[in-house]
Amino acid sequence: MLVKILSVVGARPQFVKLAPIHHAARAAGVEHVIVHTGQHYDPLLSDVFFDDLGIGAPDVHLGVGSGSHGVQTGAMLAALDAVFDEHRPDWVLVYGDTNSTVAAALSAVKLHIPVAHLEAGLRSFNRRMPEEHNRVLTDHAADLLLAPTQVAVDHLRREGLGARTVLVGDVMTDVLFDVRDRVTADGEVTALEGVSPGEYYLATIHRAENTDDPERLQQVVDALAGLDRPVVLLAHPRVVAKAAAHGISLDRGSLTSRPPLAYPELIAAVAASAGVVTDSGGLQKEAFLLRVPCTTVRTETEWVETVELGWNVLANTREEIAAAVTRPRPAETDAAPYGDGHAAARVVSVLAEPR
Ligand code: UD1
Repeated sequence: MLVKILSVVGARPQFVKLAPIHHAARAAGVEHVIVHTGQHYDPLLSDVFFDDLGIGAPDVHLGVGSGSHGVQTGAMLAALDAVFDEHRPDWVLVYGDTNSTVAAALSAVKLHIPVAHLEAGLRSFNRRMPEEHNRVLTDHAADLLLAPTQVAVDHLRREGLGARTVLVGDVMTDVLFDVRDRVTADGEVTALEGVSPGEYYLATIHRAENTDDPERLQQVVDALAGLDRPVVLLAHPRVVAKAAAHGISLDRGSLTSRPPLAYPELIAAVAASAGVVTDSGGLQKEAFLLRVPCTTVRTETEWVETVELGWNVLANTREEIAAAVTRPRPAETDAAPYGDGHAAARVVSVLAEPR
């Protein structure tokens, strides 16, 4: 084996990014060990991605589960030392900005195992977001920063991290193009129940800033329920739990909720929608890559290219959200700020270079 890579993942978006890396590692004859922290444990947030995206089962599952940030991150840290010691990889590869990312980076650094951060250099500059803490801490701990975009490279340079940075493109583009082509070729994916193609908005809301405060959650739900077309909310367990705790209905007016979708079904549901309303990072890009207008329910975004190109609008109040979803279709563009769909192969070849 040329090199041994150990990936640590734990939350839904990381499983999506893991798939192209796993396939590229295999294709290059590189040994790839997968460690699942157990941050996401619901089958719909976890197992379906491993199945549908051809990843197979993780090699190690820590079963950490939910908890406050400190408890969850600490439980991962405590468990990872032994795993890294046993496998002694050439690289620990961490993904994105979750508690699983920062825990794995910290554990590896302390064991003197080189750490590479995939999706490095994203910044919202909002210090209230747990994801912002996670990504800043991880970037400054890591030995190699794999940046998805030029904007991310520029952020890292400004923080004095340019020498450790490589622009590889965005692996989410790899997996999205692959799945989109598969979904279109097979027609395997059934449409969402109860709505007609082109006539509905697809929504996801899960971030702490929109869900933890009942007043804020009520505002967001009111905005969705008041839109001019049916809104299908793919409800993350976090929003279901918070809504139930505060007596907020997720099924009224234009709004109906249903469980999250597996990745191929999600891509088909985005492609067939009239627009996306979300606070997810990944979905903003998926909508852009499928050229579906997106409305992002946040005060800032890391994916500024989608906004600059007109395919994404930040909106927070009921009025702003209603205006954004009914805006005219943005100008067509062939801009490709998220790469060419071959980022994962580049990541593996950078990791396989002699150090
Ligand atoms: C995490 C990431 C977020 C990412 C999101 C994708 C952090 C700080 N946040 O947020 O960046 O966008 O994943 O989904 O790492 N729960 C379940 N079942 C599960 C997982 C969670 O019921 O399988 C519930 C629990 O009540 C838990 C809550 O959701 O307390 C929050 O889960 P957690 O993993 O802490 O964060 P996410 O909101 O999923």
